Amino acid sequence: MKETPTWTDWKENQLLDEKSAGLCMFIGVSQGVNQIDQVAESLVFSILISFVMVCLLRLHRGMNRQRQMQGLILKCLKLIELCTERFDEMSMKGRVALNVVVLEAMRFWKKQSEMRPDRCGPNGLQKDERRISEKVKISMAAKAVCVTGAGGFVASWLVKLLLSKGYTVHGTVRQPGSGKYEHLLKLDGASENLTLFRADLLNYDSILSAIAGCAAVFHVASPVPSTVVPNPQVELIEPAVQGTTNVLQACLEAKVQRVVFVSSVSAICICPNIPKDKVIDESYWSDKDYCKKTQNWYCYSKTEAEERALDFAKRTGLDVVSICPSLVLGPILQSTTVNASSLVLSKLLKGGDSFENKTRWIVDVRDLVDAILLVNEKHEEERRYICNAHTIKARDLTEKLKSIYPSYKYPSNFTEVDDYLRLSSEKLERLGWKYRSLEETLIDSVESYREAGLLQSE
Ligand SMILES: NC(=O)c1ccc[n+]([C@@H]2O[C@H](COP(=O)([O-])OP(=O)(O)OC[C@H]3O[C@@H](n4cnc5c(N)ncnc54)[C@H](OP(=O)(O)O)[C@@H]3O)[C@@H](O)[C@H]2O)c1
Repeated sequence: MKETPTWTDWKENQLLDEKSAGLCMFIGVSQGVNQIDQVAESLVFSILISFVMVCLLRLHRGMNRQRQMQGLILKCLKLIELCTERFDEMSMKGRVALNVVVLEAMRFWKKQSEMRPDRCGPNGLQKDERRISEKVKISMAAKAVCVTGAGGFVASWLVKLLLSKGYTVHGTVRQPGSGKYEHLLKLDGASENLTLFRADLLNYDSILSAIAGCAAVFHVASPVPSTVVPNPQVELIEPAVQGTTNVLQACLEAKVQRVVFVSSVSAICICPNIPKDKVIDESYWSDKDYCKKTQNWYCYSKTEAEERALDFAKRTGLDVVSICPSLVLGPILQSTTVNASSLVLSKLLKGGDSFENKTRWIVDVRDLVDAILLVNEKHEEERRYICNAHTIKARDLTEKLKSIYPSYKYPSNFTEVDDYLRLSSEKLERLGWKYRSLEETLIDSVESYREAGLLQSE
């Protein structure tokens, strides 16, 4: 942990002359900040105000004070630079203030150089100012990230996690202002650190505006239908595939440092000849022709999108990591929409005559978003990660649920399906990923469905 500079440090480093030090101190104190040596950001506010005052002074006295002004501004910028080094310790308010100061300084100096180009030589303020503003931009960007499809089930949890870690989040949504994103606005830290951008995956410019200024992008958005879609090419494949290409192209243009692409195990194991006796790892890919033949358009869209994403990374050098979750369960944050995977569990609770005894590979949404953040922070050379925690047959899952919640209806009959596969998340676990018990996931899911009024028949 770096130490916050004391007021004496500022002075001893000769970052301030008596006049500007006095001015900053005066403003700091007059704002009620009497512990200026402990709160770096209060200094930023002081600098901002003193800077404005200096500009006013300059206007008042005319151009003959230019040289003195230049020195004063340089000192202010040096102070800002020191603050920037302590960027991580500052609150969002402080960071924004810092950014405002630099932008104001740049605007001011641009105007100066237009008015008096002779006084803004190559060694003058312009150079320092550019260097410092670049530094600020980098520090800002290090904490700004974008989440596509922010209002969805998985993305909402990711936004929540990122906000809790102090990130500035740019979330893309298709209908800002709609009630379906209200849960996002209620998240802790959302009022200061979350901005929702209107963006459609098929509209490149809208995606680029949301991504600009971000160090990392989490591409989560993709259509996840719960029923058969009438026009899979338009409703599913294009947004998933072309949408992903648009996001990656925008990341390249905006010089994003890392992209985490949320794929699916359906891009791994939908294959007629997949070996049942082997552990399935990240080297497996779903068979796209087989997906087409069986009209499994969701799996086709995820496989094609992930293949293209990893190929794009290879061709362009963009840093892309993909994560392939299994069926995602867990509590829902959104209240006016129900995502497809939560419906799988709620249907089981509501019962019915006959269900297929399918294998369910399950991961908790909270463990998934931990994994997404983990692979953003560290990953091995190979850029694909299976994210699965539990493997269980539908009948056994029902029995488990019955033992906790005996009063729901549940299916009365199961037909056998030979689809058992072992998926390995060993690679992710090597990075330190941990997951909770299936019981915890089931209980928290059911309780949240109850709260949202999703389970009518108990
Ligand atoms: N849930 C699972 O079991 C599971 C398993 C494996 C992988 N995944 C992957 O995880 C991701 C999130 O899934 P989820 O369960 O959270 O689904 P979800 O709740 O249905 O969220 C999907 C999101 O995608 C956005 N979206 C869809 N089409 C879009 C378009 N054309 N432009 C912009 N945004 C668009 C939606 O935005 P709007 O809010 O604007 O409608 C929505 O927020 C998906 O990539 C999915 O394939 C999910």
